[in-house]
Amino acid sequence: MPRLNSIADLERHRSELLAAHDADTPRVTICSGTGCHALRSDKVHEAFVDELTLGGLDGRVDLLRTGCHGFCERGTIVTILPQEVTYLQVKPEDVAEIVARTVLQGEVIDRLLYRDGDGVGILREDDIPFYRHQTPFVFGLNRFIDPKDIDTYIVQGGYAALAKALDQMSPQQALDEVKAANLRGRGGGGFPAGAKWQTTRDAPSDVRYVVVNADEGDPGAYMDRSLLEGNPHRVLEGLIIGAYAIGARHGFIYVRQEYPIAVENLSFALDQAHEYGLLGPSVLGSGMAFDVRVHRGAGAFVSGESSALMCAIEGRVGEPRPKYVRTSVSGIWGKPTNLNNVETWATVPLIIDKGAEWFTGIGTKTSKGTKIFSLVGKVNNTGLVEVPMGMPLRQVVYDMGGGIPKGRAFKAVQTGGPSGGVIPERLLDLPVDFDELDKAGSMMGSGGMIVLDEDTCMVDTARYFLNFLAEESCGKCVPCREGLYQMLEILNRICTGDGREGDIELLEEIVETVQGWSLCALGGSAPNPVISTIVNFRAEYEAHIREKACPAGACKALISYYIDPQKCQACMLCLKNCAVGAISGGKKLVHVVDQDTCTKCGTCFDVCPSRFDAVVKISGVPVPEAVPEGTQVTRKRGGANE
Ligand SMILES: Cc1cc2nc3c(=O)[nH]c(=O)nc-3n(C[C@H](O)[C@H](O)[C@H](O)COP(=O)(O)O)c2cc1C
Ligand code: FES
Repeated sequence: MPRLNSIADLERHRSELLAAHDADTPRVTICSGTGCHALRSDKVHEAFVDELTLGGLDGRVDLLRTGCHGFCERGTIVTILPQEVTYLQVKPEDVAEIVARTVLQGEVIDRLLYRDGDGVGILREDDIPFYRHQTPFVFGLNRFIDPKDIDTYIVQGGYAALAKALDQMSPQQALDEVKAANLRGRGGGGFPAGAKWQTTRDAPSDVRYVVVNADEGDPGAYMDRSLLEGNPHRVLEGLIIGAYAIGARHGFIYVRQEYPIAVENLSFALDQAHEYGLLGPSVLGSGMAFDVRVHRGAGAFVSGESSALMCAIEGRVGEPRPKYVRTSVSGIWGKPTNLNNVETWATVPLIIDKGAEWFTGIGTKTSKGTKIFSLVGKVNNTGLVEVPMGMPLRQVVYDMGGGIPKGRAFKAVQTGGPSGGVIPERLLDLPVDFDELDKAGSMMGSGGMIVLDEDTCMVDTARYFLNFLAEESCGKCVPCREGLYQMLEILNRICTGDGREGDIELLEEIVETVQGWSLCALGGSAPNPVISTIVNFRAEYEAHIREKACPAGACKALISYYIDPQKCQACMLCLKNCAVGAISGGKKLVHVVDQDTCTKCGTCFDVCPSRFDAVVKISGVPVPEAVPEGTQVTRKRGGANE
């Protein structure tokens, strides 16, 4: 382990690493992020180790276990260099062939390539449509770094920004660069990072803290986890630069306990940074003392709120407190504390390295740089995408996401996590940035994007998010504790067919109270999914209340499955697949659903062959009377048994 006692030592070490690297040595990178890990990437890695050992190729092929590449649903992702061939959905059983054909012979294994819409295999990861439209300035290094090997970060230019700040900038100059970049916080509010840093720096105190918020409690969001897991040194480098600019000697990384790989990789990174002299009494021999502690959060959504998080770090219950004085002035143990999100910190080295002018050249007038989104839901390609601020939503959903599966129609995107709002189809060309999303009644939040299709009920969607928020409310203040509960009660009854006239207006009234009078932003923003679905999809609420119908056919209490006797061909598929025996009928006999036994799981609807289309989902109308038992089917051409 080299001890880097000066900036010159860092530069020398990097040169040595570059000199030792032979670009012609074959290299296999295996994604080992949580997504790929769940798809057995560790077994894929083991298979490569075994195969290379068996073939006597030890030391002749570099094996690199990287962090998440973003396209987790297609894991395990394996890239072979120098050919730059990327294979998706690699299984341990594929490894022997990959070594024999691609690593040794340079041949491409067609079946492991990504296929475009015309079925053509794509070789390079960057050419896959999911990646082609991205600008992965913050996230892109993940693919080239082993998070447990600091040298793989240094060789990519890691810690050069820190060296630049220490060597060429005063703390205030480093801070001014972040201010000039107009970096807005990526954790939710979009507050300007530079202004917050300045407040913390200027607050009178001999002790200041800097903190990374890696709580990431939003369902469906995992960009912070993937950054921390895949490139912990990038976050750490940003934090050290921030500490230098603000004048902090202690830092905390608050990471949720449910992120074991992130915690493990981060702990490794901190140990290595210590050994290298990047943390400790004199960072890179500069005389700046800085140290970091990891605080594991217990996984409560509300603990991601700044004052709650700071209470948790102090060892108290992670609940918000009134912020008469900002945490940047009086935070942990009453000392000025600067809290930023993982992605915000990870962006800082880029700004210092390339300059504020470069950074402000990307994005929109008020939102600069790029943003990582977690694109999930009813979209063909799900995963993490990093795009310049201002990219139209349509491009994200269609060009990168590949559109809506099964030819269904797009309905909306829920942005901003559980307390965000829905963006309906008419706003698909909205440029995605902090202010445009706010104007559209939603928010950026931490970057969750959940795509909803025509089969998604908007009342049920609001109910789902509100249920999450009501459960996660700490209960300390009445508007949030009682208001969310009452709203949930109303949404529950609307979804179960017991909605009443006046319920929508009542919801709107409660929304105002909860938004206006809650203690923290959990309550303040919790009504967003309700109000934005009412504004954009009021007719769906009305149909539930007045016609007892769910237009999307999603609310179980409001739908029924019925077999059209004119269309049923007695193929028996529904009958055989019904788990509760709710379907009667027989060979050549019309099948009938017993409405009392049916659990509305929808299996009969899914298995009925499209050429018959005999199972019908109905809502808001009475189920037609069943045909008498023993009714013979009306045979049609191409029918069953024909
Ligand atoms: C209920 C609630 C949960 C939050 N959870 C997170 C979180 O998980 N991660 C995060 O960075 N910010 C979260 N925030 C926002 C933080 O309070 C804070 O604004 C943010 O960490 C500041 O960092 P930034 O300026 O870099 O965005 C949450 C806010 C609220 C109200
Ligand atoms: S974990 Fe492998 S692509 Fe995300």
